[in-house]
Amino acid sequence: MSIKFPPQSVDRVLIFDTTLRDGEQSPGASLNVDEKLTIARQLARLGVDIIEAGFPFASPGDFEAVQRIAETIGTESGPVICGLARTTRADIEAAAKALQPAFYRRIHTFIATSDIHLEYKLKKSRADVLAIAPEMVAYAKTFVEDVEFSPEDAGRSDPEFLYQVLEQVIAAGATTINIPDTVGYTTPNEFGGLIRGIKENVPNIDQAVISVHGHNDLGLAVANFLDAVKNGARQLECTINGIGERAGNAALEELVMALYVRRQYYNPFLGRSPQLEEPLTNIDTRQIYKTSRLVSNLTGMLIQPNKAIVGANAFAHESGIHQDGVLKNKRTYEIMDAQLIGLADNQIVLGKLSGRNAFATRLKELGFELTETELNKAFVRFKDLADKKKEITDWDLEAIAKDESQAVDVNGYQLEFVQVSCGDHAQPTATVTIRTPQGEELTDAAIGTGPVDAVYRAINRVVGLPNRLIEYSVQSVTAGIDAIGEVTIRLQEGDRIHSGHAANTDVIVASAQAYMNALNRLYRVLEQRSPQVESTIEATDTDVVELV
Ligand code: KIV
Ligand code: ZN
Repeated sequence: MSIKFPPQSVDRVLIFDTTLRDGEQSPGASLNVDEKLTIARQLARLGVDIIEAGFPFASPGDFEAVQRIAETIGTESGPVICGLARTTRADIEAAAKALQPAFYRRIHTFIATSDIHLEYKLKKSRADVLAIAPEMVAYAKTFVEDVEFSPEDAGRSDPEFLYQVLEQVIAAGATTINIPDTVGYTTPNEFGGLIRGIKENVPNIDQAVISVHGHNDLGLAVANFLDAVKNGARQLECTINGIGERAGNAALEELVMALYVRRQYYNPFLGRSPQLEEPLTNIDTRQIYKTSRLVSNLTGMLIQPNKAIVGANAFAHESGIHQDGVLKNKRTYEIMDAQLIGLADNQIVLGKLSGRNAFATRLKELGFELTETELNKAFVRFKDLADKKKEITDWDLEAIAKDESQAVDVNGYQLEFVQVSCGDHAQPTATVTIRTPQGEELTDAAIGTGPVDAVYRAINRVVGLPNRLIEYSVQSVTAGIDAIGEVTIRLQEGDRIHSGHAANTDVIVASAQAYMNALNRLYRVLEQRSPQVESTIEATDTDVVELV
C-alpha cells in the first residue's frame, strides 16, 4: 500500500510539510540526520499529512535522512513520506530507494515550465518538457503509486502551456499536481485565478489533488494559498516558521490557524455547511508552538518577535487600553486563545525531589525519545538545574532534552571546562579546556572585549577552524532570574553558514557550548571535503539552487 489520499477522498485541506526539504535550503539551516529525525517525529505528532523529508539524490546525507525518516516515521499510522526528484531517472531512482521503507511513500518530481527557466536555465523547448514530464512521471509510477508533479515557476508560466503539461502528467499517473509560485511573484487574486483556470481547463483534473507551493518574496505566500483554497487547492506545501529559500515558504502555523480561526468563512469553499465546527486540517494545533521552537532551535533560525502565531509578542498586550479590554473580556483584542497553539501548556511539572522515572516519563510525554546514554546525561543536567531552580517547567525539560539530542557529536571537539573572569574593573579573560577528536586535552586562554568574546577567542585558539561569527543571540526559556538561557549562534566559513544552539542557566556556558556545537558542524563539513566529495557536493548544490 503506498497511496493514502486518492484524489476523490480529499474532503479537507492536506498539509504537506517541506521544512526538511525547502526549509532546510535556508542559508545556515542545515540539519544533521538526527536533528531531521527529531523534527520529523514532531511533525508527525503535529499531524501533518505528508512530510517532504529531503532530496535524496542531492547528497549522501540527504539520502540517509530520507531513508531513516521513512524507516522510523513512515509507519502505517504515520504520515506519507515524500522525496524530491528532478525529472531524471537517477533522481527518481534515488528517491524510490530512500523511500522504500515507508508504508506510504510519494515521489515528488519537477521540471520548470516558464519560458525564462526553459530558455536560460534548462535550455529546453516546451516540446522537450511535454515529452520529459509525462515520461518521468510514468517512470516514478513504476516505483510508487503516489506521484506528485510540479511545474516549477508555474506562477510565471503560460497558463495554456501549463494546462497541456498537467493534462499529460495526470494521464501518465500523477496523483497530485503541485502549482509552485517559485519566485513569490503572484498576488492572491492572480494565484487563485491560476488554480481556477487549472480546474476549468485541465480535462482530467478530477484525477489529481491540486496542491500549492509558494515563496514569500512579496510577503504574499499565505494570502495566495488561502485564495487557492477558495478556488480548489486541497494540499498546501508549507514550512514551520515559514523558513525556506530567500524570504522563505508559506508558514504552516499561519495557514493552519487562518483556516481554523476563520473556518466558518472557508467551509463553503469546501462544500461544507458554514456553521460546521470541525477543523479544515488534521493538525493538532496544540503542538504548533513546540514545533516552532524545536525548528528554530535546531536550525538556528530565530523567530522575529512580531511573527504571527509563534512570535514572542503574538499574544502579548502592551498598551493599557488593550490590557484593560482583555481583562474585561479576552475577545476584545484576542481572536484566538494562546492555549490553542500550546503556548499556555507551561505547567510546573517536576522539582528537586522528582526521580529518574518521573523525568523519563514526562520527557516521553513531551515526545522526546532519548537513548539510554542521552537520558542519563539529561537526568544529571535536570538534577543540576533543580538544585539551582525550584520549579522546573516543560519548557525547561524541553531545553534540556533538545540540547541533549543536539549535543551528539561525541567524536568531535568536546568542551571539558570553561571559566571566565570579568567585571567593570577587569579585562574579560577566559580559560578553556577542550578534548580534540583525537582525544588530546588542550587548555588555552584569551582576553576579549567581553566574557563571550574572550571564551570564543580561547576556543578558537584551541580548535583553529577558520570562521566568522555572524549572529549571536540569547533568550530565556522561562521567566524569572533563575531561567535557563538559550544561546543560538551562526558562523560563516566561505559561503556556508553553520548554526549552534545550547541551553544552560549560565549563559556563558551556554554560549561556549553553542559555539562548540557550530564548530563541530563546520569540522564535519571540512573533514568530508576531500576533493572528490567536494566536487560532487558543489555540482549538486548548484543544481539544487538553480533548479528549486
Ligand atoms: O519553489 C519551487 O518551485 C520548489 C519546487 C521543487 C516545488 O520548491
Ligand atoms: Zn520551493
